[in-house]
Amino acid sequence: MNRTENILRRSKLTQEEIVYLLGLQGEEKTLLFEHSARIKEEAVGKRVYFRGLIEFSNICMKNCLYCGIRHDNAAINRYSLQEEEIFAAARFAFENNYGSLVLQSGEVETGNFTRQVEKVLRGINRITGGKLRITLSCGEQDKATYQRWHDCGAHRYLLRIESSNPALYEKLHPRDEFHRFRRRLDCLYSLQEIGYQVGTGVMIGLPFQTVEDLAGDLQFMQQFDIDMVGMGPYLEHAHTPLYAHRDQLLPREERFQLALKMIAVLRILMKDINIAATTAMQAIDKLGREKAIKVGANVIMPNITPGKYRDDYLLYQNKPCTDENAEDCKTCIEARIALADNEIAYGEWGDSAHFTKKGQGTRDKGRSGRSWQTA
Ligand code: 5AD
Ligand code: SF4
Ligand code: FES
Repeated sequence: MNRTENILRRSKLTQEEIVYLLGLQGEEKTLLFEHSARIKEEAVGKRVYFRGLIEFSNICMKNCLYCGIRHDNAAINRYSLQEEEIFAAARFAFENNYGSLVLQSGEVETGNFTRQVEKVLRGINRITGGKLRITLSCGEQDKATYQRWHDCGAHRYLLRIESSNPALYEKLHPRDEFHRFRRRLDCLYSLQEIGYQVGTGVMIGLPFQTVEDLAGDLQFMQQFDIDMVGMGPYLEHAHTPLYAHRDQLLPREERFQLALKMIAVLRILMKDINIAATTAMQAIDKLGREKAIKVGANVIMPNITPGKYRDDYLLYQNKPCTDENAEDCKTCIEARIALADNEIAYGEWGDSAHFTKKGQGTRDKGRSGRSWQTA
């Protein structure tokens, strides 16, 4: 038995072993992908859950150095959907049996924003009789705000750590009080303590990032006992400061392959979590999301943002689906999932099996014990 086969027999891996897996090429890489595909099938089946994605506002107070909708980028139109537009999108998801919604926005920490989100959550629950699971992705907030949104019926939250290495995190963000690694981590803990299903993620192939960093990211997710993950390749955007470092990047195809390996290894490490096939995967490879599903992802987020706003939510350039509408994306994704030999779990919430198994009792006691050290 060679080293790859030997490592693949285990689910507890050292950082060095993860680094080894992330470096696989050729036939050995195929072994990894076949193995993670088998694990996915055993643990969560060949079923893919839909989350209708509503990018409801691109207004952001922050200035992450990689992001196209950062506050200081004056070259985009800022928008916030009207409540009625959000409700119409939610109705589309409901009528089309999507099971879940993701409400995503830039980061705004104000009382007004908190109340607006509350109203939207209540409205969606009223319209759909509480039958849609709602995920929020609205960045860092204080714990009381997270609690209020949870009380209004949001049960999942996505907050990417972006990088679990504090030194790398600092290089990707302005060094000011609004962009602190420690705060981001505390937010993740708050969400977990409140009882959300918590999702996180990282970008792959960033300037200054090493394979050791990426292996550390996977270990972070495991130690944090995360329920859901969305990660994809970093994609440079000309109107951002990080663009100056584009000459240091891996070629796009290599970034994509690294992202696929990250998904495969994560599936091996955390068999029953939900892993998204992200849009960024498709921005590099036309079949990117299908490939992600094959090697371990089990969630896909069809965009249901009204078409006219999609051009303004460009976190990165060449984002797919900006000329499409909700119906186009539905048809397109149905075909893609069939191509990946998986089936769509229509009408199901698709809660993270990992979260469900953990049970409420342990969560109330603060199951993580804040094991992740930043020092
Ligand atoms: N390339 C890839 N992903 C990006 N994101 C932001 N900017 C980029 C980029 N240039 C991701 C971040 C953020 C999520 C909403 O989008 O990980 O958390
Ligand atoms: Fe704002 Fe999020 Fe973009 Fe950072 S990554 S600038 S918080 S939208
Ligand atoms: Fe939007 Fe394919 S998913 S057009």
